[in-house]
Amino acid sequence: MKYVRNNKNSKSDYNLIFIYEDKLSSATKSIGRGIISEDFKAAIKQKVVTGKTGSSNIFSSKMYEKNIIFIGLGEKSQLSIQVFEKCLNSALRIINEYNISSISLDLTNISIKNYNHIKGSIIEIEKTQYNFRDSKKHKLKECSLKISSSIATRELNNIRQESIAIANGVNTARKLGDTPPNICHPTFLAKEAKKLEKLNKNLKVEVLDEKKMQSLKMGSLLSVSQGSKQPAKLVIIKYMPIKNKQPIVLVGKGITFDTGGISLKPSPNMDEMKYDMSGAGSVIGTMQACAEMNLKNNVIGILACAENMPGSSATRPGDVVTSMSGITIEILNTDAEGRLVLCDALTFSKKFKPKYILDMATLTGACLVGLGKYPSGLFSNSDELSNKIKKSAEQTGDRVWQLPLYDDYFEELKTNFADIQNIGGRYGGAITAAAFLANFTKDQKWAHLDIAGTAWETGNNKGSTGRPVKLLTDFVSSNK
Ligand code: BES
Ligand code: MN
Ligand code: ZN
Repeated sequence: MKYVRNNKNSKSDYNLIFIYEDKLSSATKSIGRGIISEDFKAAIKQKVVTGKTGSSNIFSSKMYEKNIIFIGLGEKSQLSIQVFEKCLNSALRIINEYNISSISLDLTNISIKNYNHIKGSIIEIEKTQYNFRDSKKHKLKECSLKISSSIATRELNNIRQESIAIANGVNTARKLGDTPPNICHPTFLAKEAKKLEKLNKNLKVEVLDEKKMQSLKMGSLLSVSQGSKQPAKLVIIKYMPIKNKQPIVLVGKGITFDTGGISLKPSPNMDEMKYDMSGAGSVIGTMQACAEMNLKNNVIGILACAENMPGSSATRPGDVVTSMSGITIEILNTDAEGRLVLCDALTFSKKFKPKYILDMATLTGACLVGLGKYPSGLFSNSDELSNKIKKSAEQTGDRVWQLPLYDDYFEELKTNFADIQNIGGRYGGAITAAAFLANFTKDQKWAHLDIAGTAWETGNNKGSTGRPVKLLTDFVSSNK
């Protein structure tokens, strides 16, 4: 899509204007004189237009060939990233139903602390162009942005290029998540990652097969795929444009389907376990964004891909395996498989001498129980790192909430039969899962994001969200 700076002569099919319930009179000024303006004033008097959060009103004038959609944002001082993006998104969804090709967006009255509203808007617009079943359904051709004249054209061009790269990354993550699990298996993910090479000469992809992983002694990761016909893959996506600079390593859980294995999951909603590769999807999306925006930072993505199936060769509860680190693990529940693939990927990632390691995983239902579906769970052994992640979350609206990693949680992983067991006690499951991972990153600045509640939507709007690609791209661009 084309983004242009608003000039008065450009005719857009629809003009989007934001209004506040406590600033309705200033809204009437911004639309100028004319029929719509008179109608608008009357509609305010009759309380048809309220400016309340989530409200929208369409005004059309045939004579002036003008369509305006007024998007209510509630009280101006209360405006948050979440409200802004949600209201913009629903307005776009309304007009996407009409056969239109151009819009204009008036952003002159939007200001949210620490948030780049131009970037956020472009990403949101690009996101509405995603359609899993029909990739050609993209209808919008042009968006004209009305923004402050203090933003130089060069700056706008940079923002635009960066935003489109991020949105493409988000949409890639969504596409991968939504792809059915009979198609999206570990080999497919590896192939999709490989496609990124054509985007940037500094990006290289390497795929390790099971034989190679055996030689690296990744006994934990391989124990997860051993019940499946689909072979596991460890995918390494290197984006290294800078010489002699420590990379940021992003590790993603890539369980392309999680049946639970022998500790079989109940049937209802099991289809949603196709999204159990969302961590890996978010890493692919982030690497794509880095490559497309020509980021000046070194980033390595590692995808731990496997399918968790029951079967005669599947891991049994009680099996003991040896991880690449040498730590032995008693597998008490084969449904706690994410940590089993991640621990070997984390150990492997140390060879790149990372500045920071972040892993993303749909790791626990407990995280969803504890935090709901709005923030991702954040766990870290480094305040320096977790503060940086929180900052990126605040800037992008891709929220996180930190949970503790007290020594007590580590006690729960003790067993008589191996160094550690793969599940904790009845409570705090998101934390004992993170504590398990922490055993493998002791000498690293590491953080873990549990995206079980944030990676996809359920119900009528079922679909991948592409989270936390926005957070991650902000993190890798802010920490050069
Ligand atoms: N992929 C699931 C976690 C999950 C479940 C995410 C539901 C989103 C929605 C993970 O592999 C899993 O099964 N975790 C278990 C761990 C338990 C066996 C300790 C869980 O959360 O129940
Ligand atoms: Mn599981
Ligand atoms: Zn899982």
